[in-house]
Amino acid sequence: MAQPVFDDSLRTGFASIDEQHSMFLDMLGELAERIGAGQHRQGVLDAFQGMRAYAEGHFADEEALMRAHGYPGYAAHCRLHGTFTQRLRDLEGRVGEGPGLLSLETLEFLGNWFINHIRNEDQRFAAFARTTPPASS
Ligand SMILES: [Fe+2]
Ligand SMILES: [Fe+2]
Repeated sequence: MAQPVFDDSLRTGFASIDEQHSMFLDMLGELAERIGAGQHRQGVLDAFQGMRAYAEGHFADEEALMRAHGYPGYAAHCRLHGTFTQRLRDLEGRVGEGPGLLSLETLEFLGNWFINHIRNEDQRFAAFARTTPPASS
């Protein structure tokens, strides 16, 4: 079992988005390391909170970019972000009760969700955005 990492096949062509995707996966890997090392509750919780907040910031940035480009898939994409965010918040609550409740399998699931989301949804938006410039304001 390995935590997924960023590679060139995941690039969208938007440098800031790519950087955020890479950073999120790094944070997830760091969290997996802390859990694997049996770190105490606060260390795991801090890493989880940082990762969850980072994901929410990333989703907000991505959604702003979609609005700027008038992306027709915006609402559906936002729903996917919302479902993932809720899952992270639920998990964060469980980590607060005890880090043993967060398994490496769960982290792997989160990483795989994120990678699939980049491949299927973020790259679809990026392809649209390349052919549809942002509306001038
Ligand atoms: Fe997305
Ligand atoms: Fe994304």
